[in-house]
Amino acid sequence: MNILGIETSCDETSASIVRNGSEVLSNVVATSLGEHQKFGGIIPEIASRRQLEYINIVTSKAIEDAGLSVGDIDAIAVTKSPGLIGSLLVGITFAHSLAYALKKPLIHVNHIHAHIYANYLVDKGSKRLKTIHKELPLPATGLVVSGGHSSLFAIKNFKSFRLIGQTRDDAAGEAFDKVARILQIGYPGGPVIDRMSRDVGSEALQANDLRFPKAALPGTYDFSFSGVKTAVLYHARKHSGTPGYSVEKVAAAFQESVIAVLAEKSVEACVKRKSRTLLVGGGVAANSGLRERLHQLAGEAGITVSFPAMPFCMDNAAMVAGLAYVL
Ligand code: KG4
Ligand code: ZN
Repeated sequence: MNILGIETSCDETSASIVRNGSEVLSNVVATSLGEHQKFGGIIPEIASRRQLEYINIVTSKAIEDAGLSVGDIDAIAVTKSPGLIGSLLVGITFAHSLAYALKKPLIHVNHIHAHIYANYLVDKGSKRLKTIHKELPLPATGLVVSGGHSSLFAIKNFKSFRLIGQTRDDAAGEAFDKVARILQIGYPGGPVIDRMSRDVGSEALQANDLRFPKAALPGTYDFSFSGVKTAVLYHARKHSGTPGYSVEKVAAAFQESVIAVLAEKSVEACVKRKSRTLLVGGGVAANSGLRERLHQLAGEAGITVSFPAMPFCMDNAAMVAGLAYVL
């Protein structure tokens, strides 16, 4: 079964064809990110306008890249929520119209759940196609860390995601973006802070006495990242321009605070809930420090941790088409 997925929840316009829920035949992504950079955040009106301009081209290219024609599409899946209303509306209206014209079923997909499902996507012809669901058995614990969300889920099956914890203020990606803005190192902040942290290295970070708070919120699986963000702000205001002040070290110490909490809480949730699989998703799942820490902690606890391949961490339509197959 070939499902055409459509994703337009934020600044990415994406279309993809996924066969039988896992085999990605094509995944095309256009983004208006560059236009938002000078504002330091997404401008919803610009994002939705570009969605409208890109959606036809991106969808045609996805069908072409898959080597298929419109008649080979068996169903259409679209991100229904959450997201920016103007952006979502473009994808939903487009998908409904296409499904109506082609007389094919339309499946609504939750964007956050799709970020988790991205772990089950494999490239065309991959040997893992037959084994991927056995490699990552359910029930599982899911950690979604993106620009808009930081949530932990108990996942019984793909139709049953139960929220067990979430951020009480900023999402993890939002904190990366805001801290990057404070440090004036560009937007989006995640990839820049990730690179700076790698350059500083963990040994230098240990030796460095700069530490930012980690919100433990004991007894819950909730997160809080606004405290660490404010701590970075006060630190930068006080020390910026003084001898020994290093933006790279501040960025690395900030990242350490965020990834330590994310990794410790999600492994704790797995251990306490006796779940052997941890599925991570969302833009922050691309973070090399988080990947390393989770591999280490999950490995010690005998838990299988999985991250989507890099193109499927960021917003993409393959995760939408994939999840639709198992709903
Ligand atoms: O999932 P996504 O593409 O869009 C949303 O649904 O929000 O996530 C975007 C977020 C941004 O906040 C960005 O700074 C963050 O993911 N991000 C990263 C990295 N790459 C992207 N955060 C930390 N490390 C990264 N390497
Ligand atoms: Zn997303």
